[in-house]
Amino acid sequence: ATGAAAYVPPDADLTQLEAASKRCHGCDLYRHATQTVFGEGPASAEIVLVGEQPGDREDLQGHPFVGPAGRLLDRALDQIGIDRDTVYLTNAVKHFKFAERGKRRIHQPPGRTEIVACAPWFDAELAVVRPRLVVCLGSIAAKALLGQSFRVTEHRGQLFTMPDYQVLTTVHPSSVLRSRDRGKAYADFVADLRRIATATG
Ligand code: URA
Ligand code: SF4
Repeated sequence: ATGAAAYVPPDADLTQLEAASKRCHGCDLYRHATQTVFGEGPASAEIVLVGEQPGDREDLQGHPFVGPAGRLLDRALDQIGIDRDTVYLTNAVKHFKFAERGKRRIHQPPGRTEIVACAPWFDAELAVVRPRLVVCLGSIAAKALLGQSFRVTEHRGQLFTMPDYQVLTTVHPSSVLRSRDRGKAYADFVADLRRIATATG
């Protein structure tokens, strides 16, 4: 397996990309996961939100951000007046990586190889959607877009201007759920997301 590029059809729309992604063997993650979880949302979306990889629920249901992190994200978006159905939601890596502990499947962070292998799918999604703003949820997404040395903790809530779109970075909603002071972590997360309005007018 040498990356997803060989599996990405040229000049495809989102439906065709998603169908092709179901057959991707671009890295080894497809072997143990249930299914590819492709991005979802309108091709006309002005905003793309990109997470890390599907979690346990997403893997089973086949849709991004449908588990606990997704519920938190929905609540935060709702709070700033953004309807989840108007944005395009996706992940840097399209298969769930986990370790089995008894009956439980424990999330494992994707490695550099898997992130690079899967990037052609995200590139293809961006090429179709052509958003004004990409919101990176967590450091895996931020590093995939802004480079390995990017530090979310230093730059969260800041807008970066790229040739084709702006980029906003914040923490991953799962980190809010794991935080010791969840109330503050959630408030900080929402404050970062409020910058979306600045970027999209
Ligand atoms: N975490 C992510 O990064 N993406 C999902 O789709 C769900 C949880
Ligand atoms: Fe393909 Fe990405 Fe899944 Fe790896 S994680 S098999 S590159 S879709």
